[in-house]
Amino acid sequence: MTADDVPTLDLPSAYSEMSELRDNFTRFLLTYEAGMAEVETKVRILQQEFTHLYEYNPIEHISTRLKSVESILDKAARKGVPATPESLREHVTDVAGVRVVCSFISDVTRVQELLCSQGDITVLRLRDYIAEPKANGYRSLHALVEVPVFLSQEVVRVPVEVQFRTSAMDFWASLEHKIYYKYDRAVPPELLAGLSEAAETAARLDADMERLHDQIRGR
Ligand code: GTP
Ligand code: MG
Repeated sequence: MTADDVPTLDLPSAYSEMSELRDNFTRFLLTYEAGMAEVETKVRILQQEFTHLYEYNPIEHISTRLKSVESILDKAARKGVPATPESLREHVTDVAGVRVVCSFISDVTRVQELLCSQGDITVLRLRDYIAEPKANGYRSLHALVEVPVFLSQEVVRVPVEVQFRTSAMDFWASLEHKIYYKYDRAVPPELLAGLSEAAETAARLDADMERLHDQIRGR
């Protein structure tokens, strides 16, 4: 190999490529953060309206999370898709997440329908793990929605994953999540059985609470 064959690194161009990549990624995450904030605001407005006008609040709490760059890239690698903004937009649909925890099952459906029927929201996918719980017992209603984000030069439609669930479902899911990671995804069978039974107990509690709530309200 002669000195001429050794590839030389063009530092200025490598630097400008890297900073372009970083700028693109920052822009990408910014649109998701904005879309997430819009959906959160929509749900908070519903919550305020219910509280002030109807003196009833179907929403216990709302939380949001933006996936870290590391886990976005992890997920892309797991799915075997390229890490370009276009590909990530299509394949990693939970970059922006909003969780809405309600008191009763009927509220879960009601709040989901109220959000999803808004004029600037497009529903891309609806998964009802309450009607059809996952094998491990997981229950929640997931809506993948698209919301427009107005930037200075363009309007970007951003997908946001919204999870609607009751407090009991949320309690179960957070425990299951902790156990899953504690055992690095290989949960012992007896614990799995215990979790599945706890999920049934939580579902029974939800049904009982709903019934009592209906009685109190004279329905
Ligand atoms: P990923 O699981 O994120 O790859 O997406 P998916 O396409 O399988 O969508 P799905 O609707 O199944 O799950 C999306 C999100 O719901 C997850 O990221 C979790 O936040 C939550 N979730 C789904 N299944 C479970 C579960 O079994 N236990 C817990 N604790 N959370 C779950
Ligand atoms: Mg999943």
